[in-house]
Amino acid sequence: MKGVVLAGGKGSRLYPLTRVTNKHLLPVYDRPMVFYPIQTLVDADIRDVIIVTGGQNSGDFLRLLSNGKDFNLHRIHYTYQEGEGGIADALRLAEPFVEGEKICVILGDNIIENNIIASKQAFEKQSAGAHIILKEVPDAGRFGCPEISDGRILGIEEKPKSPKSSYAVTGLYFYDATVFEKIGRTKPSSRNELEITDVNNMYLQERTLTHSILDGWWTDAGTFESLQRATNMVSETGANKIPGRGKPPQHSRNSE
Ligand code: G1P
Repeated sequence: MKGVVLAGGKGSRLYPLTRVTNKHLLPVYDRPMVFYPIQTLVDADIRDVIIVTGGQNSGDFLRLLSNGKDFNLHRIHYTYQEGEGGIADALRLAEPFVEGEKICVILGDNIIENNIIASKQAFEKQSAGAHIILKEVPDAGRFGCPEISDGRILGIEEKPKSPKSSYAVTGLYFYDATVFEKIGRTKPSSRNELEITDVNNMYLQERTLTHSILDGWWTDAGTFESLQRATNMVSETGANKIPGRGKPPQHSRNSE
């Protein structure tokens, strides 16, 4: 399985911090933000990785990560997103690297306490489709939010005003190679982005979307509040210091 780290975008919710650098290069406690999602992939033994960057500071990723040796990566590739077309638009740049394999996609501002090994194993058992990871949060309207009934996802809404559950769809996704054809069918949303939520809903319609619930804390770091939370979480739990970060967690279930 190959890994895709999405680290483009303007990071406008963190202005002026992001006026002269990329959001994913900002510090979270004692290391640059992008180190955490890369470590999450490595902890799940995903060592062929592509970083999708963008903006004026993309060269800094090469200086920071070089050939991936510090993370014990087998391969690190880089690609460049022109403009800010959203998560699905960034992901499609990874298609030539993926070469038809299954992928794990992680947003460059998503930080977790433990690991995604159980979710990866659940997805490996699927012959096709996608697997998403949910986490209960107090502010589900800030995220992709699923409607759930009897343990099945009925639909996912992006940043709903009235969330239909208290779960967020985290920025950790597993896809088969049909994801690129699905991205090709998405249309720009009201915020003029190709939404990953639309892609996940296409898998749901095909009845090939499964999900698991993440164990341990999860946070994004794309707003001042969440960036501070990420820093506090990492410093308090020492999540950055634990090799492999913990125990196999989670339970997994099929949405269908
Ligand atoms: C993005 C996705 C959203 C997901 C979130 C996780 O939101 O669009 O579905 O729940 O990442 O971090 P954004 O970072 O664009 O607010």
